[in-house]
Amino acid sequence: MISAGILTISDRGWRGQRQDRSGEEVKALLSTLDARVVRHDIVPDEREVICRRLRQWADEEGIDLIITTGGTGLSPRDVTPEATLLVVERMVPGLSEVMRAESLKKTPRAMLSRGVAGIRGGSLIINLPGSPKAVRECLEVILPTLPHALETLKGEVEECAEETGSG
Ligand code: MTE
Repeated sequence: MISAGILTISDRGWRGQRQDRSGEEVKALLSTLDARVVRHDIVPDEREVICRRLRQWADEEGIDLIITTGGTGLSPRDVTPEATLLVVERMVPGLSEVMRAESLKKTPRAMLSRGVAGIRGGSLIINLPGSPKAVRECLEVILPTLPHALETLKGEVEECAEETGSG
């Protein structure tokens, strides 16, 4: 079973001025995988706070999959990608690329998400945009491939080329 953490990054959500519908959307979509959400928090758009939480979830709690939502745009407070880049050791650009590419078929504004994805230790960290609609449109694209990605990260896959199918 995959352990998952959902980190909603939003000043307004953190102040209690906005319901965390995006985090709930991530949770609903992850329920279609063999995944258990072990952490679900909201933090403000503060680089250090985001970094600290990502490090804690990866290093101390060993969470397999960390999904962030929000803070990927161009507004002055949007620092999620910068915080993520400070903590990841290896990048997984294909995940962000395919989410943007598929999302562009739905809205030209998809090009405005600067989200990144990468690995820290045994954790895969993926940024999603902040709206529930964007969460759905992006996560749906990569969801079928995540189990294989995580098996690979754990060193459980020896021969990728022989594996076929949607995952
Ligand atoms: N991607 C998808 N699939 N659908 C969307 O509606 N919204 C875009 C973009 N990515 C969108 C999307 C918009 S309007 C913005 S501003 C950026 O994500 C950044 O969003 P964020 O700052 O909430 O992370």
